[in-house]
Amino acid sequence: MKLKIGCIPGDGIGPEIVKQAKAVLEKVAQVYGHEISYRHILLGGASIDVHGIPLTDEAIAEARAADAVLMGSIGGDTTKSPWYQLPPDRRPEAGLLQIRKALNLFANLRPAVLYPELADACPLRSEIRRDGFDLLIMRELTGGLYFGERKTVTENGVRRAVDTLTYSEEEIRRIAVKGFEIARKRRRKVTSVDKANVLDSSRLWRCVVEEVAKDYPDVALEHMLVDNCAMQIVRDPAQFDVILTENMFGDILSDEASMVTGSIGMLASASLNDTKFGLYEPSHGSAPDIAGKDIANPIATILSASMMLRYSFDLDQEADAIDRAVKAALEEGWRTADIMADGCRQTGCEQMGRIITKHIGGSMK
Ligand code: IPM
Ligand code: MG
Repeated sequence: MKLKIGCIPGDGIGPEIVKQAKAVLEKVAQVYGHEISYRHILLGGASIDVHGIPLTDEAIAEARAADAVLMGSIGGDTTKSPWYQLPPDRRPEAGLLQIRKALNLFANLRPAVLYPELADACPLRSEIRRDGFDLLIMRELTGGLYFGERKTVTENGVRRAVDTLTYSEEEIRRIAVKGFEIARKRRRKVTSVDKANVLDSSRLWRCVVEEVAKDYPDVALEHMLVDNCAMQIVRDPAQFDVILTENMFGDILSDEASMVTGSIGMLASASLNDTKFGLYEPSHGSAPDIAGKDIANPIATILSASMMLRYSFDLDQEADAIDRAVKAALEEGWRTADIMADGCRQTGCEQMGRIITKHIGGSMK
């Protein structure tokens, strides 16, 4: 198969982690007989440095021309980097929001899994984490507060800022459908999270989710208020299968969910539209403080590459091979600094990439 992949190394640790994910993909291509071509795309600070803006029309066109996009991370130190002297709509993050919108990537899948090998890194007590957990946050990504009208005005000498939270029923329906579809491939439970005791947008959300649920009688649906959900994630994370929620709530809950796994450096994500196209990136940020030191954990990006093979190319066998190779490296005791534990062997970004690459195809021999 020919795979046309757009590649956005981005900022901070982005380039080094993407390099390792590409090495793993290259090995997959060799072992399984595929041909991968990359188009390099600038986004975020890397684009500002060259073009003065975080995303150009050419970059959007390049991404559109690809079958899928693999991304590292974008952004810098908000207190130190000159990128943050620019107006808000010219900063690195603005480019990320623009590409999500331009490619209609409305469905953001963020799995939070407690790996048994890393259970000790979980900050939850053992009686809370019990046998581990495996939840997936299905976050709406192109609507809500992030994309509603916003402005800052001065009235009678007093500054006032306005952000608007708006959702149409179509926007809610299409993400709800994605949520129920993915629940069918998992443990068939959807927890729809909102703030329906206060917000109109949440009351519409709840109503449309109920409508969609009628087409999925085999999937259990429950509603949960977002503040309660934030609490339940640290009280009993194993109760969740798919958490379906709007953009801002999903942003916050997904950071929380990834933290309780104790290994944010391990968590992948996929942003999908209505086609097979997707943008795949680690759930963590660009960690500018450790960039270039060869200590970043490349696993989240490598697992994002696995999600890409699975969702955009239907190459499940190849994706399984990557997931197994990651597991094998962990079982051998290899750890990057962020997940290091007693009795394990500490390694850097490059070497972790090499070890995982080595394990690809191992089970075929
Ligand atoms: C994320 C990030 C982004 C978001 C930022 C960088 C704009 O926090 O992907 O979760 O808020 O969506
Ligand atoms: Mg976030």
